[in-house]
Amino acid sequence: MYLLAIESSCDDTGAAVFEGQKLLSNVVASQLIHNEFGGVVPELASRDHQRAILPTVQEALQQSNIHKNQINAVAVTYGPGLAGSLLVGVSFAKSLAYGLQVPLIGVNHMEGHIYSVFIDGNPPPFPFLCLTVSGGHSEIVLVEEGFKHTKLGKTRDDAAGEAFDKVAKLLGLGYPGGPVVDRLATEGNPTFFDFPRTYLPGYDFSFSGIKTAILYTLNKIPTAERDAFIQNHLADICASFQAAMLDMIERTVRKAVKETGVKHVAVVGGVSANRGLREKLEKSAQKYHYKTYIPPLKFCTDNAAMIGITAYFKHNAGFISDLSLNAEPNLSVGA
Ligand code: KG4
Ligand code: ZN
Repeated sequence: MYLLAIESSCDDTGAAVFEGQKLLSNVVASQLIHNEFGGVVPELASRDHQRAILPTVQEALQQSNIHKNQINAVAVTYGPGLAGSLLVGVSFAKSLAYGLQVPLIGVNHMEGHIYSVFIDGNPPPFPFLCLTVSGGHSEIVLVEEGFKHTKLGKTRDDAAGEAFDKVAKLLGLGYPGGPVVDRLATEGNPTFFDFPRTYLPGYDFSFSGIKTAILYTLNKIPTAERDAFIQNHLADICASFQAAMLDMIERTVRKAVKETGVKHVAVVGGVSANRGLREKLEKSAQKYHYKTYIPPLKFCTDNAAMIGITAYFKHNAGFISDLSLNAEPNLSVGA
């Protein structure tokens, strides 16, 4: 069975082809137009998806060496995300499924991130905990067999990726900020600034205070010296910020492992590409006797392969959508 998967929930247009559970191609067209605005501009994103979707799908089919008439099922992200962006993918997928007379499988983007650990390598056994840290979400979900998801905790304000992006913007590092901060953090001193860590009861996160703390710290420097100070200490600010983020994430994950007794932890979403986070959680796992499962970098940020693998499992479990499928910008995972 050949399955074509489409992802267009935010600012990446993705198409992937699976043969059964085997990934044949995974094409992502990332929109660079948002860089100059320091964040995703929804109207520009949906227009860019319209331009990119057909060539992206064609490229994925070509790389897989299959013709569109060989597609046996079409999967698509239908939420959460930006309404205009989601609509491009959903409309395209519905038309294609209708035209080819093949099943349509709607996939929740957050479930896509969760099941990205199954694309290749060594997936966790059920039940497992999933830390999803992306630009729009930060949550810890208990994942049980049969698409049973229980949300244990989530961010009460900014998502982890959003915190990275906002701090990068503050420092004039452009968008998206995560990869730049990640790189600079490796060159800086993580104890140069002692930015505050927020620990909440349960497994919720709060990442907005740290951005404000950085702003206050920089505002205390006399205006005439501020720019030079930031330039001289860019790496130290990034390293100190990242250290605080990683402490908050690691401690909450560790608490969830201890209190649920579930010792397998998947780490997914764009921020799981962060080298510091990977290292920190791997060390924590060794020390506290749990195991982490982190997908290869290309499956961490938004892509259609994660939508395809989720659709493969959903299809096997008998979940099929009909052509009334609509974009659901506020879709979530678990209760
Ligand atoms: O999962 P994703 O591609 O899109 C959403 O669904 O949000 O995540 C994008 C987020 C952005 O905020 C980006 O700055 C962050 O992931 N990100 C990183 C890294 N690579 C991407 N954050 C920290 N370190 C990275 N290496
Ligand atoms: Zn995402």
